[in-house]
Amino acid sequence: MDLAPAALFLCSLLCSAAAQAPVISVQPRIATVRQGESVSFRCQVGSGAQPVQLEWRRANNQALPDNVKIGPDGSVLTVANARPGNQGQYRCLAVNSAGRSTAAAVLNVKHAPKVQLTAEGPLHVRIGDPVTVECRATGRPRPTLMWKRQGSTLQLVTTETSDVNVIQWAAVRPEDTGVYICQAENSEGVTEVKIEITVEVEPGAPVASVSTTEMTVVEGHTVTMECQASGSPAPVITWSKLRAPLPWKHTVVGGVLTLTDVGRQDSGQYICNATNIHGYSEAYTQMEVETPPYATCLPDQVRLHPGDSLRIQCLAHGSHPIQFTWSRVGRANLPAGTETTRDGRLLIAHVKQGDSGTYKCVATNHIGSSEAQAKVIVRA
Ligand SMILES: *[C@@H]1O[C@H](CO)[C@@H](O)[C@H](O)[C@H]1NC(C)=O
Repeated sequence: MDLAPAALFLCSLLCSAAAQAPVISVQPRIATVRQGESVSFRCQVGSGAQPVQLEWRRANNQALPDNVKIGPDGSVLTVANARPGNQGQYRCLAVNSAGRSTAAAVLNVKHAPKVQLTAEGPLHVRIGDPVTVECRATGRPRPTLMWKRQGSTLQLVTTETSDVNVIQWAAVRPEDTGVYICQAENSEGVTEVKIEITVEVEPGAPVASVSTTEMTVVEGHTVTMECQASGSPAPVITWSKLRAPLPWKHTVVGGVLTLTDVGRQDSGQYICNATNIHGYSEAYTQMEVETPPYATCLPDQVRLHPGDSLRIQCLAHGSHPIQFTWSRVGRANLPAGTETTRDGRLLIAHVKQGDSGTYKCVATNHIGSSEAQAKVIVRA
């Protein structure tokens, strides 16, 4: 039997809709996944003459990566174990007797940054030479790039949110010798690449080095910083503090700086300077002094009427982070409805007579803790 006339007849009934090219849509239109996750896109045919042939392609007609699979009817595209290279546009192509149409989906793959430097270390340069090292990073979300010097977290060289970050010197000095780190960070991770730069100096010129470039000490302790220097004739070593005089309780003996009973204000960068007739060289030690908290309540006494609101702030000096805990002296719990905040506040919206009493705040950091009290009197 010849089917063509029958088909034509059917078409005359149905083809008003069917003579149409396919109308398709892709769900979801944009998907963002983490590296290693999976995601599917569905290509849906809204209308158009049947049969509709579906096909998936990458933008610019690249082959689909090997971890991308198409379901049996061609409508579902699944990216398994997504990787950065899967990022981009995927297009669903629909073809029927009346024509063709496409719809696109975009896949974003979040991943930790990858970092590359334009130079490979160790880099040996002559004193006075210009030096440039570029750091490039890729990652999603776009990473923040930072150059820092190893051994001194606070000696930040540059910070930038762009794909390239450059560290450069018009003329290097001996004290620029060191390990420099390009760090790229986004929500998915932190990646670092190091480069060692060595500045070659004249024979005989001093080269200073410190035994510790970074130290953290607890308040009240005694600290020693050692500096050694090569060079001929033997260089003279002096110590100073960046942008401040040396603490008055200090001594310098044979290149060793000793600080006794250090306090918070002694935190900072200490500079060893070795000098002889051929030149000078500096080396740095970064010291942080940590202190236990010292807590106070503001106010420490308050008189209220029933229905008033109570607000007490617990303040604390000391090394961060500091945690605050509130309690009520002689009671197991704070009154119902009391609110406390991470930054040390205690709040009661409407006090009752029974809320009278002594409230205690304990401020704690990793070195110690301190408490303070506030007296609350509620009277009609
Ligand atoms: C180190 O000594 C040299 C030469 O005496 C001087 O020019 C330089 O400013 C000193 N640096 C510091 C940090 O004191």
